[in-house]
Amino acid sequence: MSSATPQDASALRGTASPALTPFQEKLRIYVKAGYPILYVVTAEEDRAIESIAGALAEGDLARRKTYVWSVSRGLCTQDLKVVDRKTGDPTKVLPFLLEFGEPGVFILEDFHFFLDERSPQAPVIIRQLRDLVGPFKASRKTVVILSSVLKIPAELEKDLTVLDLDLPNEEELLHVLDDTIEQVSDNPRVEVNLEGDARERIVKALSGLTRSEAENALAKAIVTNSRLDPQDINLLLAEKEQIIRKSGMLEFYATPERFGSVGGLDELKKWLRQRGKAFSESARTFGLPNPRGLLLVGVPGCGKSLTAKAVAAEWQMPLLKFDLGRVFAGLVGESEENMRRAVKMAEGVAPCILWIDEIEKGLAGTRGNQGDSGVGARVFGTLLTWMEENTAQVFTIATANDIEGLPPELLRKGRFDEIFFIDLPAARERANIFAIHLAGHHRDYREFDLSRHVAATEGFSGAEIEQAVVSALYMAFAEGEDTRLQDRHMEAVIAETVPLSKSMGEKITLMRQEAGEKWRRATGEAIQADVETTVDEPPPVPRKPRRVFEV
Ligand SMILES: Nc1ncnc2c1ncn2[C@@H]1O[C@H](COP(=O)(O)OP(=O)(O)OP(=O)(O)O)[C@@H](O)[C@H]1O
Ligand SMILES: [Mg+2]
Repeated sequence: MSSATPQDASALRGTASPALTPFQEKLRIYVKAGYPILYVVTAEEDRAIESIAGALAEGDLARRKTYVWSVSRGLCTQDLKVVDRKTGDPTKVLPFLLEFGEPGVFILEDFHFFLDERSPQAPVIIRQLRDLVGPFKASRKTVVILSSVLKIPAELEKDLTVLDLDLPNEEELLHVLDDTIEQVSDNPRVEVNLEGDARERIVKALSGLTRSEAENALAKAIVTNSRLDPQDINLLLAEKEQIIRKSGMLEFYATPERFGSVGGLDELKKWLRQRGKAFSESARTFGLPNPRGLLLVGVPGCGKSLTAKAVAAEWQMPLLKFDLGRVFAGLVGESEENMRRAVKMAEGVAPCILWIDEIEKGLAGTRGNQGDSGVGARVFGTLLTWMEENTAQVFTIATANDIEGLPPELLRKGRFDEIFFIDLPAARERANIFAIHLAGHHRDYREFDLSRHVAATEGFSGAEIEQAVVSALYMAFAEGEDTRLQDRHMEAVIAETVPLSKSMGEKITLMRQEAGEKWRRATGEAIQADVETTVDEPPPVPRKPRRVFEV
């Protein structure tokens, strides 16, 4: 293998034309460094070919011509002049290229079909590819396999380099928009009204889509009401949501929770408030890096998932819930592809929060002997590498409660900015949690003897406190619709509850000991301290205010 690595890419970047996309820059470096086989993953063939040809059109690579092969046409020049008819047979094309007298970049469309182990040609073609590795390095030739799926036979893994075609950048999307406007410009029935920053806002709404998806979304917006104006932005966002949902791995999660809905966890909230300001341009100028992510580990029911949701609302960023299990649910071999597509989509929605709930469960299949020939470990590796390298403003929040299930690689510095341990709520935190959930059910905490309930719920999780409030409401309602919720109802249900910290005492004690020592605590409160149980935060507005009927 040649010694060039992707790290060299950044060193050389300064010399490349600024108009090149990151994909084009990488491609140039691989071609110059003599990488014999590249594998480009994309659903957009035409755009990929344009992009590859564009990358080679400049400087010292300009003499290297681009050729395109497909099973229907055989080997052609880029303007579709047939080079040799007999190369339509996939087993003939590689030997032909081996003998070919000129340097060049040879793009093979749909070639993954012939690399599939079910294909009768696969053994021959895999051998042929391996045979050209040595000679190609020495003769300025590069094969580029273009495919919508990432499926690489194990035999070729070492000889082949994978590249992703970038999604269209803002400049390209602006072209798409302008093209679309151009196409309807002579249609008197279509009204285009994009004043001020409307074009930029539309482009933002389209980011994360492929070129054809963006074209389709715009066409739909125009056809819907014969207009293209800023009001279409919502329609475009809805279309994007659809496309992302179709992928089955990411889900837009709308949530009303703010930090006010999370009781306690003051250290964690303080940390998050500081980080929330760091996504701006002025933070970059100041010299701050993009915040990357956060891992929340801790006792079940103590607010990990709740915090993830609240961060999104607080920072006003879309929350994308990443279903790691679904990544692995596909056929073996597609999982890597799923993972790449998911993180690319998240980048397209940036700035956003990528929420990986219960990460240890999603990763369960990647370790141990699942008979998946290391695919799981590789997919997990893809995630880790991305977490370290991603430059888009995607803030990852992962949650976990089984610390033992977490692989050490995940906990290494550089992946997450911080790992917080969320413990059972301390006294004052419990008071806040009571107040929040009482308010959530239109009750005022000041009408209750909170200190008593706080004292009686030592060892309860936030979820158990919430459940106690709800059960008390049931109890009161059962006594009659006019019954007021009273302390005695609360007392009764609390006395009946056996918290998880008791029923699973040993396991939870062990976890609290281990995690409490290793990771930063999410609260400044001492768990066992006998503190004043006042509620210091203003009680939140009830989530569903009651309608006032003035009659
Ligand atoms: N600190 C808290 N403040 C307010 N409500 C809380 C708090 N902790 C838990 N709750 C309540 O309990 C519910 C469950 O909490 P959450 O889903 O965040 O727990 P978790 O830590 O993610 O647990 P698990 O490990 O079981 O997933 C929340 O929706 C919320 O109503
Ligand atoms: Mg959870």
